[in-house]
Amino acid sequence: MLGAGGLLGSEIMKLLPDSVGLTRIQLSVTDLTAMNGALSHFQPELVFNCAAYNAVDGALDRPYLEKDDVGPLGVYGKSKLEGEKLMSMVMPRALIIRTAALFGGDGSLQRHNFPERILERARAGERLRVVSDQTVNPTYAADLAAAAIALASADMDGVVHVVSAGCSTWNELARATLAEFQVAGEVDAVSSSELSAPAPRPRNGCLESSRTQALRPWQEALAAWATTRGANEPTKA
Ligand SMILES: NC(=O)c1ccc[n+]([C@@H]2O[C@H](COP(=O)([O-])OP(=O)(O)OC[C@H]3O[C@@H](n4cnc5c(N)ncnc54)[C@H](OP(=O)(O)O)[C@@H]3O)[C@@H](O)[C@H]2O)c1
Repeated sequence: MLGAGGLLGSEIMKLLPDSVGLTRIQLSVTDLTAMNGALSHFQPELVFNCAAYNAVDGALDRPYLEKDDVGPLGVYGKSKLEGEKLMSMVMPRALIIRTAALFGGDGSLQRHNFPERILERARAGERLRVVSDQTVNPTYAADLAAAAIALASADMDGVVHVVSAGCSTWNELARATLAEFQVAGEVDAVSSSELSAPAPRPRNGCLESSRTQALRPWQEALAAWATTRGANEPTKA
């Protein structure tokens, strides 16, 4: 497992505790010599690469399918596409999972995901302004981890979209998170142009798959995550 210290990597490690999990400090995927050394040392049957430089601050009117044309808008998307192309070239049997808007974890990771940041800010009494004109599939990392392991043994290669079922705006996700965790807070709807984030993001960031089943609906997954995180923490108006 590469990128074992991240959100998805740590969820996969929970499900495969006997596997070798390497964090960025232990093995950087940009270090070819070290990568080759690790591969010949561990001789893995299977490698999950969950490493990513994920700092994005960096449309069709239906969800994107695997066969749709790609058109990355920023540096993050372009680097992901380059990674896909290189991987398909050097390892045509590789399975490339595209996903979206991951949430989950136990709060111990340094980089907090979107719902965690919303909860922190609402608990601090901040009035929130969240975009209502960009859609994504909020995807539960624990569900994705289990699906990735199942797909790895399903003799599938190429690109596959694995996301929680359903599409949501970030604003809707923020509101649903507060409701699910029973945290009071105001969430104003704003447009992307009002917020002007440094990196361009697609209005329609929703994925669908013609190759595999979607994970359970994001609302159900959000509820399950809230339960595991102990939803009834103190609220703040
Ligand atoms: N999170 C999302 O919303 C989202 C959406 C769509 C797709 N994805 C994709 O899903 C995958 C997993 O994402 P995630 O949310 O689990 O990301 P994450 O929590 O940011 O974890 C990524 C991990 O990769 C490590 N890493 C960074 N550069 C590395 C390098 N050169 N070599 C080895 N490890 C390196 C990071 O270590 P440090 O923390 O030490 O830098 C971090 O532990 C990624 O491919 C990501 O692009 C994520």
